Amino acid sequence: MFNDYKKKVIIALDFNNIEDAKTLIDKLEGEAYIYKVGLELFLNCGNEILLFLKKSGYKIFLDLKFYDIPNTVYNAVKSAGLLGADIINVHASGGIEMMKAAKKGLSEAQETAGKKIELFAVTVLTSFSSEDIKEVFDFHDNSAHNGYPENTAESIALHLAGLAEKSGLDGVVCSPLESLSIKKMFGDYFKTITPGIRLKENNIKKTNALGKENSVKNRHDDQKRIMTPSEAFRNKADYIVVGRPVTHAAEPLASLKNIYADIKTGF
Ligand code: C5P
Repeated sequence: MFNDYKKKVIIALDFNNIEDAKTLIDKLEGEAYIYKVGLELFLNCGNEILLFLKKSGYKIFLDLKFYDIPNTVYNAVKSAGLLGADIINVHASGGIEMMKAAKKGLSEAQETAGKKIELFAVTVLTSFSSEDIKEVFDFHDNSAHNGYPENTAESIALHLAGLAEKSGLDGVVCSPLESLSIKKMFGDYFKTITPGIRLKENNIKKTNALGKENSVKNRHDDQKRIMTPSEAFRNKADYIVVGRPVTHAAEPLASLKNIYADIKTGF
């Protein structure tokens, strides 16, 4: 079942220029199969990085997390599909009408591109703790709960996953901590992509592989709901997203291999 695990690890190319992204890709020497292009890299080099990844035979997760009115998101998802993305995402909190519009844009792009493109909805960011949830969503004082359970990262993620499932999306982006509950509730066919991945030991060095000072000082960084790669797969994640543990490592290839080793031994 687990032979293709390398094709389930998405490497986040969080750089502000194409040269650094290409240097990292080079260092991973064909050990990575799917790259994630997010806001930082896309805003700095746009379509150029997508064309490069396509030409080099990699799969692309275009992580732009669309959240807008349905018509705008319909056009955005369609355009993302036509740019060559294999995985696209929107925010589930945009609601069912927005997600259905996204799905329509996706279907049209798939028809033109002649390939399956996956559409996921972001539930709750993995950088959000339950305290952060309270700050954003619990604007009533506690007495206003009237006996209802408080909002937690997990309860909100499950609720948003339900909206995404109703809208016909392929799955959700969530913390590995919530992946299993989502699978139990909606079935294994409904996929999960889980960022917030960290190995047990901290391999962050003072300088990264590009010789630049690391802004990253600890294992968590800004992520709060984290798990190891093998824990995420035990919780039935379909894909894991790994950024800084590989991209900011002194030896990115060795770090990626450590991740693969954790998956193999820990599963
Ligand atoms: O460096 P790190 O491994 O924390 O990177 C995680 C990546 O996953 C980042 O590129 C971030 O934008 C992305 N992501 C996330 N949480 C989500 C969705 C995407 O951390 N809910």
